[in-house]
Formats: sequence, C-alpha cells, structure tokens
Amino acid sequence: MDLKSKIRVIEDFPEKGISFKDITTLIKDKDAFSQAVNLIVDDLKGMDIDYIAGPEARGFLLGTAVAYALGVGFIPVRKPGKLPGKTISHEYKLEYGSNTLEIHEDAIEKGKKVAIVDDLLATGGTVSSVAKLIESIGGEVVALEFLIELEFLNGRNKLEKYHVNSLVKYDK
Ligand code: PRP
Ligand code: MG
Repeated sequence: MDLKSKIRVIEDFPEKGISFKDITTLIKDKDAFSQAVNLIVDDLKGMDIDYIAGPEARGFLLGTAVAYALGVGFIPVRKPGKLPGKTISHEYKLEYGSNTLEIHEDAIEKGKKVAIVDDLLATGGTVSSVAKLIESIGGEVVALEFLIELEFLNGRNKLEKYHVNSLVKYDK
C-alpha cells in the first residue's frame, strides 16, 4: 500500500504558507496503520532495543503501537508540568519562540538502548531535544523513526550520529 496516499495534506494550516501533513486519515485506516507500525518495527528488529520513547502528542500515537508490536516498553516525553515524578527539562528553539519537553529522571536505566518514534521529522528540533533528554539520564539513543520526513527542511543533517529512518518523504 502507498502510505503517502493515506496522508491528507491541508494547505495553510495552522498558518498561511504551511502545508500540513494530517496523519489522522492514515491511522484510522487499519491496514495503513498496521503497515506503518510494522515497517518501523522491521527496521528496529535486530537492534536489541530496550525501550521506545516518543514525544507528546503525536509521538504517542505511533510510538506506543510500535513499542507494543516490538514487545518493549514505552517512555513518554511530555510537555511541561504533565509528568508527576521528578523530571529533567530541555528547552529548544523554534523559528519563533521556544518549546520545552520533560522526561522522568528515573525513566531509563543506565545503558539501556532506546529508539525514538515520532510522526514527523521537520527541522529536527523536537527529536534532538528528546535524544538529549534520554542521553542526559543515561540512556543510549540508537535509532530515530518517523512516519513522515520533510526533506526540504534538512532536519536529517543535524542527526548524523544516529540511525534515521522515515517511511514517507516530501520535497515541498
Ligand atoms: C510536530 C510533530 C513533531 C514535530 C516536528 O509536533 O508531531 O513532533 O512537530 O517538528 P521539528 O522536527 O521541527 O521539531 P508539535 O510540536 O506540533 O506537537 P504535537 O505532536 O503535540 O501535535
Ligand atoms: Mg509532535
């Protein structure tokens, strides 16, 4: 199945000039959803992954399904003030303003191998922040998995030290 055909593109959302890639149409299709999850799982097999981590919110949609299918646990990385235990925060810059993400400081045992799953690689700011949080608490980031990659934003360039895989690519 062509996964790209299941993604709905909505122009000028959330603001003018942005061509939004809507994955709700893909994940409601049971065959497309299962194909996407299985392709990510296939890429991770043999890497000896201990955990999947994913950033709120869209990273949860795919990340938990991948973790279940791979047979490993899931670690949520959340927006500020949502996690109840002791957390570590990381702030990263956006084109305008900044975002902050948090992880429980005891979420990952030292040396455990973690793959990060998110719906979309754009500038790479979000996934870099997630990787920094995991590494700062002693986890080893071994792979970054995305449903969609916006190649024209060159996010991959700042992720050279990792294995990066994406299923559907856009050049505009
Ligand atoms: C979107 C998307 C990725 C991120 C990619 O998340 O789900 O997580 O942007 O962009 P980047 O590579 O430039 O960092 P968003 O922050 O919009 O929030 P959401 O997942 O809660 O919808
Ligand atoms: Mg997101």
